[in-house]
Amino acid sequence: MRHLTSLFDLTSAEVEEILALAHDLKRQTKSGSRTPHCGGRVITQVFEKPSLRTRVSFEAGISQLGGTSIFLSGKDAGLNGRETIEDISKVLGGYSDIIILRTFSQELIETVAKESGCAVINALSDDFHPCQALTDAMTIQEHLGEIKGKHLVYVGDGNNVAKSLALVCGHTGANLTVAAPNGYWLSDEFRNLAKKTFPNLELNQTSDPQGAVKTADAIYTDVWASMGQEAEKEKRAAEFAGFQIDTDLLDIAGDNVLFMHCLPARRGLEVSDEAMDDSRSVIFEQAENRMHLAKGLMLWLLRQNSDA
Ligand code: CP
Ligand code: NVA
Repeated sequence: MRHLTSLFDLTSAEVEEILALAHDLKRQTKSGSRTPHCGGRVITQVFEKPSLRTRVSFEAGISQLGGTSIFLSGKDAGLNGRETIEDISKVLGGYSDIIILRTFSQELIETVAKESGCAVINALSDDFHPCQALTDAMTIQEHLGEIKGKHLVYVGDGNNVAKSLALVCGHTGANLTVAAPNGYWLSDEFRNLAKKTFPNLELNQTSDPQGAVKTADAIYTDVWASMGQEAEKEKRAAEFAGFQIDTDLLDIAGDNVLFMHCLPARRGLEVSDEAMDDSRSVIFEQAENRMHLAKGLMLWLLRQNSDA
């Protein structure tokens, strides 16, 4: 049974396949085609944290593919201790072709993958956001032709999004620089694992965003305080001062740079209004591409598991 609990679950050739399928499904959708590749399939989403893009992109995607979606909050599913995770997994696995989870704990996602008997997709945990990073690779391919050899500069917290971006760069042959204040870099443990998995990955860290973006093909940011870190919001806002993406920073990289953000954005904090709405911003294309990627990923997983 194949899953996407993190981008460590896929080979680089498989990442390429999923991206190609997503591009293809997007072209089909844009030409008005709604082939029901997933007729009769059921996806069940269990989310412990809020979501706009992820939840709706999977629901819209499965609907376009002819399947059905069910949504449960973590509390509805009983993740608050009503029964064991193993029991919940087995029950949901009996009804579902794919279980999609948004959680705090990465371990919870891995347990459901082990126990449910059906494909599991990580829709964001404290550690990873693989669907977002795959979508970002797709969006870069659309704009720059290919992602291989491109330089991404992520300015912000070394969080779930940054880690998944590092892994997608490893898979696709892009280079990543993380520009963050001291204390917010990717951990040595994660970097060592990423470097071991992708020996050719160029992964640098700096506290100088202006220097880092000079050679950027894409500049990326995310919120400074992720879901679950709300109590640190003010402390982080103070520590990240000087790391906002504004048009001055985009100008250092030039006219052709892409500005990317996974959203939701805190306008005025990690990104200025002007940068959000700048012609170099591709953030709303990223948001739409979440659906095309979700479709490609679901179809790929169902095919791998000989289900579709
Ligand atoms: N980018 C993203 O995952 O957005 P949501 O939190 O709204 O799903
Ligand atoms: N790092 C953010 C991403 C939101 C899509 C969070 O975890 O809240």
